[in-house]
Amino acid sequence: MRLTREEEAILAGEQGETRARMLEILVALGKVYGAKRLIPIMSAQVSGASYKTIGRWGLEWLQSLDARVAVPTVLNPVGMDRERWQEMGIDPGFARAQGEILSAYRKLGLTLACTCTPYYLFITRYGDHLAWSESSAVAYANSVIGARTNREGGPGALAAAITGRTPEYGLHLVSNRRPQLVVRVDDGRFSEDTALFGALGYLAGKLVGGKIPLFEGIRPGRDQLKALGAAMAASGAVALFHVAGITPEARIFSYDTTDLEVITIERSEIESVFRKTPVEAVALGCPHCSPEELAEIARLLSGKVTKIPLFVFASRGVIEKHRGEVAAIEATGARVFADTCMVVSPAMDRFRAIMVNSGKAFSYVPDMCGAAVRLGTTEECIRVATGEGEETSRVSGDSRLP
Ligand code: F3S
Repeated sequence: MRLTREEEAILAGEQGETRARMLEILVALGKVYGAKRLIPIMSAQVSGASYKTIGRWGLEWLQSLDARVAVPTVLNPVGMDRERWQEMGIDPGFARAQGEILSAYRKLGLTLACTCTPYYLFITRYGDHLAWSESSAVAYANSVIGARTNREGGPGALAAAITGRTPEYGLHLVSNRRPQLVVRVDDGRFSEDTALFGALGYLAGKLVGGKIPLFEGIRPGRDQLKALGAAMAASGAVALFHVAGITPEARIFSYDTTDLEVITIERSEIESVFRKTPVEAVALGCPHCSPEELAEIARLLSGKVTKIPLFVFASRGVIEKHRGEVAAIEATGARVFADTCMVVSPAMDRFRAIMVNSGKAFSYVPDMCGAAVRLGTTEECIRVATGEGEETSRVSGDSRLP
């Protein structure tokens, strides 16, 4: 790898030991993946933030670092709402350990936004090089915005944040961003609830694995693209996808797909993912809700009262700018929590069955929360949470949380 004089100096320890160790990580990664150089990044997003996932060892590693990030950097969701963790029923010992992790990241200069939707918080542009690590954020940045990021591991993203650089390989190179197969959705009317795109992504991810698909036959909006990419990143390992006529790079590549394998997904297959089973709680906001999704949930809940716990997750920045919608949602007994989500928080572990409107949560809840999972549209989720015409099995007689 070719390093600049400044990078050689960092490696030699002239800017401190932590920076040298972080650059060593990036150089090692670059060598493994055949990068020729390091390139500057515009922002970073660091996973490995919940005490549920990194534990004591991860905390001690973070506390051993002594440097500040060089670019705007946000943290992935952590295990609890930083301010309302008691309302979530979080154990005080967990909250203490989570607080230590947050302090360690704050000392490193990260913004404690704790979200998988950093694109709602700071401007990210087409062509920007990034070092993001949460899989749905990576899929969104690459596919919907046309920015360039590999799916970084937590330490790799932190190393990039502290040095302001990342090795130039993988999806940073335009030549690696071409579609590798076509996914044809066999229904021209496919333009409804985001959960349908979550179900499509859940199925497509299993078929596509880690390849780059080009979708034909769908016309998703932004929230639907978010749901599609998140689900494919979870059930497969998709970090970039194209949608003909919709995503920014599709027009560059879609003329050249004649030799590609074609997979067809039928509407009936997508609908088969939706099954009616009893649940004990409902969780929305995976990935974290957009302002439009919060408004939609508030509209659907209007005039109703929840009968089983309904959790909604969004970034603190989005919640603070949409206090009216949040108040309307919470007036029904539901709770809107920041900084965390149904997968990384232990708050959901007490339920035996959870309903979600997200293909990604549908993939992760069984393993991460030890619960059965049901997928429904946002409207169906609200109907179940408010006990309208569907059976639910309640954990306790109180719909208020926890
Ligand atoms: Fe975000 Fe948690 Fe889903 S990190 S994408 S809300 S699993």
